[in-house]
This record gives sequence, structure tokens and C-alpha cells, in this order.
Amino acid sequence: MSQPNPALAAPNQYALTDEQREFAALARQLAEERVRPRAAEIDAEAAFPQDIRQLFAEQDLLALPFDEAHGGTGTGALTLCVVIEEISKACATCGLMLAVQDLGTLPIRLDGSPTLQERVLPRFASGEWLAAFALSEPDAGSDVGATRTRARRDADGWVIDGTKNWITNAGVAGAYVVFAITDADAPASRGMTAFLVEADAPGFSVAKLEHKMGMRGSPTGQLVLDGVRVGDDAVIGVVGDGFKVAMRTLDHSRLGIAAQALGIAQGATDYAAGYARERTAFGKPINRLQAIESKLADMETRTAAARELLYRAAAKADAGDSDLGKYSAMAKLFCSDTAMAVAVDAVQVLGGYGYVTEYPVERMMRDAKLTQIYEGTNEIQRVVVGRSLR
Ligand code: CAA
Repeated sequence: MSQPNPALAAPNQYALTDEQREFAALARQLAEERVRPRAAEIDAEAAFPQDIRQLFAEQDLLALPFDEAHGGTGTGALTLCVVIEEISKACATCGLMLAVQDLGTLPIRLDGSPTLQERVLPRFASGEWLAAFALSEPDAGSDVGATRTRARRDADGWVIDGTKNWITNAGVAGAYVVFAITDADAPASRGMTAFLVEADAPGFSVAKLEHKMGMRGSPTGQLVLDGVRVGDDAVIGVVGDGFKVAMRTLDHSRLGIAAQALGIAQGATDYAAGYARERTAFGKPINRLQAIESKLADMETRTAAARELLYRAAAKADAGDSDLGKYSAMAKLFCSDTAMAVAVDAVQVLGGYGYVTEYPVERMMRDAKLTQIYEGTNEIQRVVVGRSLR
């Protein structure tokens, strides 16, 4: 028997409210006036843009993931996605700053005690602290169960030892959510715990920063925890429940990466369409040549379809629907594959101009690649979706 049509069964159709439209308009204005002019420079220098961080803090964009009670805007997942999309059209590295503020604080928002939430969330919401999510390790990326970082209990609290790899915001975050094995005899899914480690904790260091193909203004690094001491008040959720804290977090946070990818796809489509309007060949604008017209039509169609899936998934997050994990995985998979395909086509539309750094589409192509890899490779997204069909 076939499945019931989920669009008819689910009451959570999305509709953007006036407030969401206002945030989108603000983000669009900031993106055009302040972010786009900086995008090429941020990429070329591979330097974290402190000026954009300051701007996002002043304009309350870093407060978007948080409830009003914790100093946030209280506007929910769909609004955050719309804003990340607008910023990422101009600069994906800058969009990532907003996505990781969500990712790195979700464990605290979903599972942290009220005391921990009250103590730290306002510092993130104000932009004083950037967040980071330290799950991956040199030998544990897709396979979270292979985590080796350990935390052992002693009379004064917890002592954490280990190495974390590929951590976004390494060196600029104010605090890191670190996942460590606390019961080596249990399977990782029942013997892992999440801790909040502040950047100035003795024994905590950033051992190396990566040199990346794209997303170059966002620092990615290796963290070393060498006897880092934290108290019981740093435990996020229940001891032994860390694997599930990480999975619940990713169910939500993958929406942010999907939004970033969507922004790249729309940014690349818009740029290529504008170029094709101006550029002439064979006596007419190249958008009148069927080969180019068809390519642009496919780019626009795929991007529009990606947006519908993402907004629906984000509405599920806001409604608290139980199939969010499946939908956020589908949105991340589809939006990032769309970003990659569309950015490659944008380079092709520009021809030789597409391949040089004077034009932005080669940067968009390099940035798009990472959206297929981080917050779970697209192979892992297919695992998540596939398991829901068993
Ligand atoms: N919510 C709650 N619990 C969940 C869950 C979810 N979404 N998914 C699984 N679980 C639970 C299961 O019910 C199971 O519980 P029990 O042990 O009590 O039965 C337990 O977790 C283990 O589940 P699985 O057996 O399914 O686990 P697995 O080892 O097969 O792994 C996986 C599943 C989906 C592949 C998972 O390992 C995964 O998502 N891997 C990818 C990790 C990832 O996305 N990393 C990205 C890091 S972040 C990043 O890139 C950040 C950045 O800087 C931008």
C-alpha cells in the first residue's frame, strides 16, 4: 500500500509572517550593503570577518536562534533559515556564522538545565560568545560511535582528554560543546556525555587551523583537550545521553546548512542570469541562446524546489513534528546537491570569466562543495532518510 500523501496529512504548511518578512528584508539589505562588498576579500584573505560578526551582533542576527527569555529574538527556525539564505546569497562564510551559532547552542537549548541555559545563553544571544560544536575526531566523523575523547569523574568534577577535528569557529568561539565518552564499557550511544568547555579553560588549545578550498573566512581547526577540568555544572543534559543530544541537535541544525546551500544556489543563479542578460554573442544577449536559457531555467527550477523542501522542514521544526530528522536530512541533501550543481552551471554560463576570481561564481562553487560534506555527509543524510523507510 502506498504512503498517505504527507502534504495532505500534515497541518504545518508554512506561511511567512510579517515579522519574518521584516527580518528577511533587513538581512537582504545588510547582505547587499555590508556583506557583499566584503565577500571576495574575506575569501582571498581567509581571515575571520570580525567586522561582520560585530554587525550581526548589533543587528540581533546572532540572537535569532534564542528565546526572548534568554536574550534572543524568539522567532524560530524558519526565520533563521530565511536570514541565513539571504546572507549566504552574498557570502556563504558569513551565513555559516549564523548557522553555527544555532548548531553550537542547540545542545544547551534542547537538553541543558535551566540553570545552565540562564547562565550561558544570553552570552551567545548578545554575540559576546560565538558557539562551536566539537563532535568529530580524527577517526570519528560519520561514525560518531567511534569517539575516543574521554571524560573521567573525580572528586572535584570531570577531566577531559582528547582531540577534536574539523571544528568550525575554532579559535574564535567563546565556548565549545564537547562530546566525550564517560562510560567506556557501554556502547557509545549510551556512554557519551556533552560538556560545555569555555575557551580559556586550562588544558584547552587550538592545535591547528586548516587551509580550505572554500568557506575560507570561517576558521576550521583541531582542538586538543589535555586534562581540561570542568564542574558538574558544565554537563549538558543527562550523563551518558550525549550521543542522542548530538543526534537531536543535528536533526535541527542541518536546516541551517540547507539554508546556506540554498543561498549559494540562488546567489549563483542570480549572478549568472544577470551576466547572461548583459553578455552578447552571435549578435544577441546570450540568454537568448537556447543552450544558456535552458541551463538558467534548470538552475532556477531546482533552487525553487529546494526552497519549498527547506521551508517545509523548518516549519516542522517550529511545530515540533516528530519527522523533523527525516525532513532536515532531505532538505540538507537536496539543497546542498542543488547548490553544487547550480554553482557549476553558473561557472559554465560565465565561461572563462566564471573561472577567475574577479567574478564571484568560482567562489560560490568552492563554497558549495562543503555543504555536501559537513553536518553529516550527504551519504549520511541518505542513511537517515533511508532508515525512515524501513
Ligand atoms: N534522535 C535521537 N536519538 C537518536 C537519533 C535521533 N535523530 N538517531 C539515533 N538515535 C539513537 C538511537 O535510537 C539509538 O539509541 P539506543 O542506543 O538507545 O537504541 C542510538 O542513538 C544509536 O543510534 P544508531 O544505532 O542509529 O547509531 P549509528 O551508530 O548507526 O549512527 C548515524 C547513526 C545517523 C550514522 C549517526 O552516526 C550520524 O548522524 N553520523 C553523522 C555525524 C555528523 O553529522 N557529523 C557532523 C558533525 S558537525 C559538523 O560538521 C559541524 C560543523 O562544524 C559545521
